[in-house]
Amino acid sequence: MTPAVHRVVERREETRDVTTLMLEPVEGPRLAFRPGQFNMLTAFGVGEVAISVSGAPREEGPLRHTVRDVGAVSHALCQRQVGDLVGVRGPFGSDWRVSPDCAPGPILDVHDVVVIAGGIGLAPLRGAVHELVARSHETGGRVFVLVGARDPSQVVYHDDLEAWDREGAVVLVTVDRGTPEWRGRVGLVTALLADAGFDPSSTAALICGPEIMMRFSARALVDSGVDASRILVSLERNMQCGLGWCGHCQLGPFLLCRDGPVVPYSGVVSTLLNERER
Ligand SMILES: Cc1cc2nc3c(=O)[nH]c(=O)nc-3n(C[C@H](O)[C@H](O)[C@H](O)COP(=O)(O)OP(=O)(O)OC[C@H]3O[C@@H](n4cnc5c(N)ncnc54)[C@H](O)[C@@H]3O)c2cc1C
Ligand code: FES
Repeated sequence: MTPAVHRVVERREETRDVTTLMLEPVEGPRLAFRPGQFNMLTAFGVGEVAISVSGAPREEGPLRHTVRDVGAVSHALCQRQVGDLVGVRGPFGSDWRVSPDCAPGPILDVHDVVVIAGGIGLAPLRGAVHELVARSHETGGRVFVLVGARDPSQVVYHDDLEAWDREGAVVLVTVDRGTPEWRGRVGLVTALLADAGFDPSSTAALICGPEIMMRFSARALVDSGVDASRILVSLERNMQCGLGWCGHCQLGPFLLCRDGPVVPYSGVVSTLLNERER
């Protein structure tokens, strides 16, 4: 339960209200993690919140987290400057099952992997995309990165999107509302599915974003012929202990800090997500 003290060694303002913090431990080596896992970050004197690791295991250097300023703790984290201290407890939870040391996941025996991100939902997926793009050079598989944002100013990780595109991934970005300068697509992220060009009979999907977006995206994938058991979603609930002790993160039979945040869309998760709509 005791956070390891880390120092901010770099910060990047991704958008008006989204900041990436690069952290190095004051003592000891960088924490090991798998893409999709989260840490509990402490802004000392303010509080602790769950934030996904947005780094990639293959990337050298500091531990990376991307934070949207939505309330007291996330605001305090976004205000942290180079040299300031932050507490890190973790990593916790399940992962996208894309790194070599993971339990076998749905991407193992498919040719295509579709990654769908809504807004800052790209943060928990960033490490997975890095891994998938690197792996596609070895396996010949294809990676499709479909990103939706409210407007052009909310698109994060421009450099990564360009790099993944250069490295052979299909990268498509759409916004709900365009601006006079925006030359890209306008519309919901689900509209990108039809144009992407993946083979539904040999596709796995990783989805992270607002719940309504994950629900519609998963349903559209299933309707197009993708096997529901090959679709993973990342679910967020209020986290406190991160260790399966307090029950704050319960969703149906799951404690999401332990059994999630990344869970298969099929079965009980699909029922729970779709029931919330009624
Ligand atoms: C597993 C997991 C991974 C996460 N990864 C990230 C991440 O990488 N980057 C990031 O910025 N945030 C992430 N979050 C969300 C983050 O934990 C919350 O935004 C944070 O708890 C807000 O705390 P606060 O004190 O700043 O705001 P609060 O005062 O607690 O909340 C401010 C507003 O945000 C809403 N809110 C609080 N928590 C959530 C939530 N989980 N989802 C949606 N709305 C919420 C509240 O209802 C309120 O309207 C993650 C959450 C979980 C459970
Ligand atoms: S956060 Fe305490 S049980 Fe999940």
